[in-house]
Amino acid sequence: MAEHTSAQGSAPLTAAPPAESAQSAAPGEFDAGARERARAALERARERTLALTDCLDEDGLTAQHSPLMSPLVWDLAHIGNQEDIWLLREAGGGPGLRPALDPVYDAFRTPRADRPTLPMLPPDEARAFVAEVRAGALEVLERAPAGGSPLLAGGFVFGMVAQHEQQHDETMLATHQLRRGPAVLTGEEPPRPDPADVAALPREVLVPGGVFTMGTSTDPWALDNERPAHPVDVPAFWLDTVPVTNGAYQEFIDDGGYRDPRWWSPEGWEYARRVGLEAPLFWKREGGIHGGGGTWTRRRFGHTEPVPAGEPVVHVCWYEADAYARWAGRRLPTEAEWEKAARHDPATGASLRHPWGERDPEPRHANLGQRSLRPAPAGAYPEGAAPCGARQLLGDVWEWTASEFTGYPGFTAFPYREYSEVFLGDGYKVLRGGSFGTDAVACRGTFRNWDHAVRRQIFAGFRTARTATEGEGDLC
Ligand SMILES: [Fe+2]
Repeated sequence: MAEHTSAQGSAPLTAAPPAESAQSAAPGEFDAGARERARAALERARERTLALTDCLDEDGLTAQHSPLMSPLVWDLAHIGNQEDIWLLREAGGGPGLRPALDPVYDAFRTPRADRPTLPMLPPDEARAFVAEVRAGALEVLERAPAGGSPLLAGGFVFGMVAQHEQQHDETMLATHQLRRGPAVLTGEEPPRPDPADVAALPREVLVPGGVFTMGTSTDPWALDNERPAHPVDVPAFWLDTVPVTNGAYQEFIDDGGYRDPRWWSPEGWEYARRVGLEAPLFWKREGGIHGGGGTWTRRRFGHTEPVPAGEPVVHVCWYEADAYARWAGRRLPTEAEWEKAARHDPATGASLRHPWGERDPEPRHANLGQRSLRPAPAGAYPEGAAPCGARQLLGDVWEWTASEFTGYPGFTAFPYREYSEVFLGDGYKVLRGGSFGTDAVACRGTFRNWDHAVRRQIFAGFRTARTATEGEGDLC
């Protein structure tokens, strides 16, 4: 999330937000069901955090594997520090466990590249710290009042902390991908779609024109930037049924796409020339001659393997996605188009929580939660399809959109400005849908991610769109 996975630690907005926003920020009682949901989300996050950190020795945890990323042990204790701030102090009303650590783990204070210089807790101390904070947080969860505070309503602050930890788990997974050395992580193979079913899929699906409801005012754990729900008129458009695949992307490469300024925005072309872009990050051409031929391999969590043609492309920056779309005679979808494709049900006019409906994501719906350490082949997860017929909108790869990150009409920062507000209107590109590295708790039809246009280490791909010609949108 740009820097927001690491951007907490600043002053909370202690006053309750305005009445309407308080309603929309976190509706609902903090009842037994919400408490259980919060506990399960916190425990699942911690299980993943430990899996990502227990697999490396002290050197592997304290080393900086890329200047783009923090040492893993910084992420680990930062997770505990945020939980200390938000659950022990803000929700629990106590003094916190180790407030003196706040400056060390304040992401705004020290950029990632400089974090190795911080007086970080060594791995054993960091593990003990996060465990002790968690024990206290679970006590707060038990005794927190059932209502009265916007922070506690619906268990919002616990959901926020669980999402924060899962976002860092995805960041740490990206660090693992950048790390050199033998493989230490394992995952299951994603489901292989039925070839006949995939062959029968249309290349693109039509999303009818008209108003739909974007964002949410009711999802108790939705974050401030997803709020409030508001109507948006989206003209009819066509969207790729599945994300752009490695095979399709290779055609762009083979056609000289990286060497032809016609396909690139001026900024993208300048950037691509300056840093020498010629393929997705982690790809390498084996054999062939300069500029063509040979076969592509990729490095993935310590393994080198042929690039699988049928999987969604991943590790491309926004400029590459934008150039591919222009080469293909298409464009990136806007954020509103993406959300309408993912949520709008023409049969009822309602906006769904997820493409398949209201149910929480299950393994049959989407490739989420680091079960697999790769995207599933394009066309997988028919049970997760949206009403428009598009597949894999959630999970597999984050999808770059054409839009920049802005606040929705009526946006109110909650519970602190640095979560989203300070990033609004600053040129960040919006990504949607989550990746195989994203947990279900941090992935829903309204969830918004944002990052710099040049970012490639995140698990980002894309799909393309085109505006429907007159009359097409009326067919549905
Ligand atoms: Fe963070």
